[in-house]
Amino acid sequence: MIEYPDRQWQDYELIDSGNGEKLERFGAYCLARPEPKALWDKSLPEAEWQRLAHTRFTPGAGFGKAGKEDSGTWNRLHRMEDQWYIRYPLQGKDISLRLGLTSFKHVGVFPEQAPNWEYIYARTRELGPHPRVLNLFAYTGAASLAAKAAGADVTHLDSVRQVVTWARTNMESSQLDGIRWVVEDAMKFVRREARRGNRYDGIILDPPAYGHGPDGEKWKLDECLFEMLRTVNEILSPENSFLVLNLYSNGYSALLGETLVREAFGVQDDSARIESGELSLRDRFGKALPLSIFVRMRR
Ligand SMILES: C[S@@+](CC[C@H](N)C(=O)[O-])C[C@H]1O[C@@H](n2cnc3c(N)ncnc32)[C@H](O)[C@@H]1O
Repeated sequence: MIEYPDRQWQDYELIDSGNGEKLERFGAYCLARPEPKALWDKSLPEAEWQRLAHTRFTPGAGFGKAGKEDSGTWNRLHRMEDQWYIRYPLQGKDISLRLGLTSFKHVGVFPEQAPNWEYIYARTRELGPHPRVLNLFAYTGAASLAAKAAGADVTHLDSVRQVVTWARTNMESSQLDGIRWVVEDAMKFVRREARRGNRYDGIILDPPAYGHGPDGEKWKLDECLFEMLRTVNEILSPENSFLVLNLYSNGYSALLGETLVREAFGVQDDSARIESGELSLRDRFGKALPLSIFVRMRR
């Protein structure tokens, strides 16, 4: 299964991709930035990229090398704001997301995630009044907003205080309120919730390849993911609940993700509804750029 954001999303477009870069429009502004998966040639000439892009990310020394941060600088080509907002039409209720140029080439939203937001909204609505939804590795919180907009009591967890503050800005600009914010190591949090016997009706997780908790706790996807999922199994309600696992690093396939979930949750038959696939963007010229994989489970 391969999913793309809806073409009706007016505030986002992947314009072109190729030669290790992508050119995207977020609202009024176009950005050119590195994209290691764009292994083909660009469709538009270089002069057109220069004409369209308001800013272009130039990688610093060591960019893309193992163990180095993907840092660099944005070079302005046309006038633009440092921070601006885009809207996403979530089932007729717009959510608002603040964008900003970070030194790690990210802008605060991963647009390929839009089909996950739709899934989270739809499943949360089905769970009835005030289900409890936990978003781990939650970053600037688009998935938290989707669950909140659908009526959930949401717990949003990330280890970096600044991105949690950013997520709060997104909640406020989306005219939502009442999200519970947690700045903590994700593993430490789920272990404690399991010990206390706390349960959630929906759990979302989008873990990176490497990361760390606020007290230096180490997160390494290859080593920690299976244990994380097994602990998540203990705190996900055994019935009438959903899981969304998203993975964007280490080249994991959708099938690998699905086997991990089946083993961690003890699902060898069809008793839980499991779907897996890729999230992709498609540029104006029809070139598909796969960016992450997902596993979704209902039980
Ligand atoms: C790139 S994001 C996931 C993207 C997000 N789900 C979205 O679609 O907007 C990964 C997040 O994991 C957080 N993180 C890394 N290590 C962590 C840890 N040990 N505990 C909690 N969060 C962690 C990072 O701060 C980062 O915000």
